[in-house]
Amino acid sequence: MLKNFWWPLAFSKEVSRKPMRVTALQEEFVLYRLPDGRANVLSDLCVHRGGALSDGWTQEDRIVCPYHGWEFRADGACVRIPANPPGAPVPRKARVDAYPTVEQMGWVWAFLGDIPAAERPPMPTLQDAGAAMILSGAITWRAPYERVIAHLVQPPIAMLALDGEFAPEAPQLSALHAAETPWGARLTAVLTPPPYLVRGWLGLTRRRVPALSCEALVAFHMPCITLYRAGDDHMMMAHVPVNPETTTTRWMVARRSSQTNAEVARRRVMAALERLRPEVEGQPAPETLLFCAFRRLCDEAIARGWGIDAHLIQAEYANIKAVVIPSPARREVPELAAAWVMKEAPTIKPHDA
Ligand code: FES
Repeated sequence: MLKNFWWPLAFSKEVSRKPMRVTALQEEFVLYRLPDGRANVLSDLCVHRGGALSDGWTQEDRIVCPYHGWEFRADGACVRIPANPPGAPVPRKARVDAYPTVEQMGWVWAFLGDIPAAERPPMPTLQDAGAAMILSGAITWRAPYERVIAHLVQPPIAMLALDGEFAPEAPQLSALHAAETPWGARLTAVLTPPPYLVRGWLGLTRRRVPALSCEALVAFHMPCITLYRAGDDHMMMAHVPVNPETTTTRWMVARRSSQTNAEVARRRVMAALERLRPEVEGQPAPETLLFCAFRRLCDEAIARGWGIDAHLIQAEYANIKAVVIPSPARREVPELAAAWVMKEAPTIKPHDA
């Protein structure tokens, strides 16, 4: 699990004025919308006594903790403590971490880390211009997110983007070409799905009809995105670790044309992902070319000090002291250096990786 990347935490359509709790990277976050419609992401841990802000409510541009009513602005600063006498200043330590938030491609992304904007790895893009149909869904796996990516960063998965059944038989691949990108890698190929069965008159006869080949692409983008293209259809999946053992995959398909009802098409993708579940949850990661590139980029991120030490958190901090992923304000505003009550999540020392 890595900090200092953009992480998609929810679909845009899920986020409203009502605070929403999301667990990612073994931390709790609260997502909500400001009065002007912008999405905002804060640490969900109230600095007063650790209450969950997501159990509270929004009031104008503030979120209110339900326990003793402290009110926090979008930048994480507490601006009102109801128990204080009138005119008493709010201490600077009354502050939670606030994360840069953008909405793109139908997702709410938060930058979970503290490095300056100029050094942040970019977000990926999904080509959905002119899409006739956008499908989306989510599935949770009992598997580490690296293993989920290992199983899903494979060319046959690109067939999920196509308007057809995901066949259990692997498609044929030809003309493979791999290339690295600054924050990922991509593989293009010609993909020929297995022949499909067509029923004849009254269903009494069957024949196998060859399927059409198409150009396919499978790629990944750090830290958790897999991208697919099959013909004109595009798909993107975000594999976000809830904790070291559990991963939530949110997926989105943009189709240029479709003969199929959207709900039927969505159910087909979900059914195909469910069929993959035993493999993803039960088998070790296949060492494909793309996955090896992913592992190498993860190691480079850990060498920069971006790897969150989940095991240390569980062993030394659980039930004793909460830790949070540091936000950019911890570095950008030196005068707040002493204002942070919550300790920063420990990171993996490069030689431990
Ligand atoms: S725990 Fe949030 S105001 Fe007391």
